[in-house]
Amino acid sequence: MNGQAFTVHAPGRVNLIGDHTDYAGGLALPCAIDLGITIRGTQEQGRVELRSDALAGVVAFGLATAINIASMEPQWGRYVAAVAQELNSAQGFTASATSTLPTGAGLSSSAALEIASALALGFTGSPMDLALLGQRAELAAVGVPCGLLDQLSIMFGRAENAMVIDFADNAIDYVKFPEDIDIVILHSGQERHLADSQYAERRASCELAAAQIGPLAHASLDDVATLRGDDQRRARHVVTECERVRQTAMALRNNDPEAVGLLMTQSHMSLRDDFNVSTPVLDELVERLCNLSGVYGARLTGAGFGGCVVALCKRGAVTDPSTITGRGWIVRPSNGARRVDD
Ligand code: GLA
Repeated sequence: MNGQAFTVHAPGRVNLIGDHTDYAGGLALPCAIDLGITIRGTQEQGRVELRSDALAGVVAFGLATAINIASMEPQWGRYVAAVAQELNSAQGFTASATSTLPTGAGLSSSAALEIASALALGFTGSPMDLALLGQRAELAAVGVPCGLLDQLSIMFGRAENAMVIDFADNAIDYVKFPEDIDIVILHSGQERHLADSQYAERRASCELAAAQIGPLAHASLDDVATLRGDDQRRARHVVTECERVRQTAMALRNNDPEAVGLLMTQSHMSLRDDFNVSTPVLDELVERLCNLSGVYGARLTGAGFGGCVVALCKRGAVTDPSTITGRGWIVRPSNGARRVDD
């Protein structure tokens, strides 16, 4: 209906452990966070106009004719346009977007924008369908063949809970997140762009490995030993990372933060040495954090190649994360994307 006011919100996510496992049918342990994107506006037939100071600029396009996604400027508009193309509906909006989520930082700002846009465009399907739509839009917008980690975390997040996601069947198991542990996120200062990164190449390597030894989530290290070269190291990361996710879920349930922290730091080393998606700046930050008193463990989070590091700390051990790298946040696990009643 024209003129109907709406507000929608989509959180970002932080992945506590289990990176580059989703597209291999493995396991991850993320949570939605209390940083995100909010779109407020009114519905309008036939066109979209979204302005944002936080994202910088205004995106405007009509819905009656084919949308040229690749030429859309500013670039963040490509995510909105790709979602509109997927939805193929005449309902648009005039709105503005505010964001507390850093972009290009490994906290799923693009997935949050996709999902908030779909809700603003009146999406009415199931949360799982919305997650799948976001994944397709990511590919259409910037050509990144991402898994479902970001979209599932954003859709199914639950306050004060982390979630164990099994990407073999997208089943989600919630784990209560301890009240006395802080999730500290630090921006490395290196922006990363998945489209220019070697994301697709890593994914292809995992697919080659799986074609030889079967699904990596259930492969053994003996299976991995039969592989050669880079594929062997990529597969070893996925196999050991899935095992670390299982152990982390157990350690969280047993209230053993030291064990969780150790597994996170091991995960970082595997992403650094076997998967080669870390950078010297991320490595240095992880090391610095691990040397602080009250920090259980730290690792890069998301795809890597820059972006953020996540650390778990004793409550209050780090009071102002922005003093460490200039940009940092203490976040809590939060609810997933939603329409907000004004
Ligand atoms: C990005 C992708 C996800 C996932 C992570 C790495 O965030 O969008 O699908 O592969 O990288 O775990």
